[in-house]
Amino acid sequence: MKRLLLMIGIGLLFNSSATAATNALDGSAIFAKNCSVCHSVNPPPKLAPPIIPLASRYHIQFKTKEEGVKHIIAFVKSPDKKNAVDTQAVARFGLMAPIPLSDPELKAVAGWVWDQYNPAMGRGYGGGQGQGRMNPLSR
Ligand code: HEC
Repeated sequence: MKRLLLMIGIGLLFNSSATAATNALDGSAIFAKNCSVCHSVNPPPKLAPPIIPLASRYHIQFKTKEEGVKHIIAFVKSPDKKNAVDTQAVARFGLMAPIPLSDPELKAVAGWVWDQYNPAMGRGYGGGQGQGRMNPLSR
C-alpha cells in the first residue's frame, strides 16, 4: 500500500513538472508577459501595431509559417527598420526595442503571433470583407 502511494506521488510529481514545461512554452502566455504592454491583439493599438492585423501582413509577405516565424524571431531579437514588414508602423510608433527571450520562447511566441491571422478580418487593416482563405493555417 505504501509503495502504491509512493508511485502515485512520483507520478504526480512528473505530471506537474511536465505541465510547467509546457506552460513555459505557451506562446500566448509569453505574449501576455512580454509583449502585451505594447501590443494589443485586436485594434485599437496601444503603443504598437495590434497583433491580428500584423499577422495578416505576415501572411501576405511570407508563404509558409516557417518563413514567417523565422522573420518574427529575427525581428524580436533585433528590430531593424530594414526588416520590418510593416514600415508604416515604424514611422508611426518608432522602432521596437529588442526583447530578450530564449530561443524556444521566441519560437513559441512567434508561432502564436503567426497563428493569430484571422481570415474574417481580411488581409488589410480591418477593411476586409471576410473573404480570406478558408484555412489560414495551411499556408
Ligand atoms: C516596448 C513596447 C514593445 C514591446 C514590449 C514589444 N513590441 Fe513589438 N513592436 C513595438 C513597436 C513600437 C512596433 C512597431 C515598430 C516596429 O516595427 O519596430 C512593433 C512591431 C512588432 C512587429 C512587426 C515587425 C514588422 O515586421 O513590421 C512584431 C512581429 C512584433 N512587434 C512582435 C513583438 C513580440 C512577439 C513581442 C514580445 C516578445 C513584442 N513585439 C514586444 C513595440 C513593442
